[in-house]
Amino acid sequence: MEPVHLPNYMKDDHVSQETKNLISSLPSGKDFVGVDIHNYKGCWYYPNLLQAVLDVQKHFKPRDTDIIMASLPKGGTTWLKSLVFAVVHRDEYRENPQIHPLLSQNPHDLVPFLEVELYADSKAPDLAKFPSPMIFSTHIHLQALREATKKASRPCKIVYVCRGIKDTFVSGWHYRNKLHRTKLDQSTFELMFDGYCKGYVVYGPYWEHVLSYWKGSLEDKENVLFMRYEEMLEEPRVQVKRLAEFLNCPFTKEEEQSGSVDEILKLCSLRNLSNLEVNQNGTTRIGVDSQLFFRKGEVGDWKNHLTPHMAKTVDEIVECKLRGSGLIFQ
Ligand code: A3P
Repeated sequence: MEPVHLPNYMKDDHVSQETKNLISSLPSGKDFVGVDIHNYKGCWYYPNLLQAVLDVQKHFKPRDTDIIMASLPKGGTTWLKSLVFAVVHRDEYRENPQIHPLLSQNPHDLVPFLEVELYADSKAPDLAKFPSPMIFSTHIHLQALREATKKASRPCKIVYVCRGIKDTFVSGWHYRNKLHRTKLDQSTFELMFDGYCKGYVVYGPYWEHVLSYWKGSLEDKENVLFMRYEEMLEEPRVQVKRLAEFLNCPFTKEEEQSGSVDEILKLCSLRNLSNLEVNQNGTTRIGVDSQLFFRKGEVGDWKNHLTPHMAKTVDEIVECKLRGSGLIFQ
C-alpha cells in the first residue's frame, strides 16, 4: 500500500524508552493501513497514543467539578461534545446567543481530548487555564480511565455515547479515507472489517469498550451516564433533558417553556454545525480538518456498504460478546 498521511497519535516518534520497553513485551501487529498497533491491558493503541494514555493515567487528576465525555471514535463524539458544552454553559450565552463559542469553534476545540490533545505532547498541560466546569473527552475505556479518575477526591461525572458497531465501522471507513488523504481500496475495506470483527481496532475491541461503560453505568448511576446515538436521534429532547439532569443542571419549567431545549438541539444539530464557516474550512487543534467530523449522521447507513453476510457476521459476534450483560442492539 502507498504510504498514507498519519496524524501524530498514530506515529511512534513520541515514545519514552520506558514505553518502548513496555511495547516490546506487548502483543503487537499492524492495522489495516499497515501502522504498528499494540495491545495494552486488553486494548489496542498506536505507539504515540499508548504513550499519551499512560501519561493520562499517571498525571491527570480530575477536579471535583470536571466532566468527562467518553466514546469510541465515530460513535457520536462531536455531537455529544457540543451538547454537553451547550447544556453546561447555557446560562452564559442566554442573553447573547450570537457569541456562543459553538458558532466560532469546533466542538473538539471546546472539549479537548485528554490523550489525543492535552497529554499528547506534555505530561503537565496547563489545565488551570480552562474554565470550570471543565469538560474533557477521551476514547479510553472505563477501566483504563479509572487509573486516572481514582486519583480524584470525589468521583467526577462521566458521560458515554455508544453507537451500533455497523454504523460506527462505516463512519470510520469514510473518516479514515479522508484522514489518510487517499482513496483506500476494497481490499483495505475488507481488512478493516475483519479487524473490527476480531476486535483488532484502535481503542477496541468494540464490545469491551461499550461493556466497560455499560457496566460502569449500572454500578454507579450517579456518576456514569450511558447514552446511545440512535436514541439521541430518535428522541433528542428526552435525551438532552436526561443529560442535563445527570449533570445536575436540569432544565427548569421556564426554560422548557421558553424553548431552551430546542435551541440547544438546533445549535448542536449536524445541519447547523456542519454549515458553519469554522467547521467547513477550519482545522482543529489536533490537526484534523473540522469538516471531517460531519457526514450524514444517520442510523443504518451501513446498509449502503456492508453485504447482508457481513452484517450478520458482525451482529452475531457482538450479540455473543454482550450476552448476559443486558446491553442489546436492535
Ligand atoms: P456518519 O459518518 O455516520 O455520518 P465522531 O464525532 O465520534 O467522530 O462521529 C462522527 C459521526 O457523527 C459521523 O457519522 C457524523 O456525521 C456524526 N455527527 C457529527 N456531528 C453530529 C451532530 N451534530 N449530530 C448528529 N450526528 C453527528
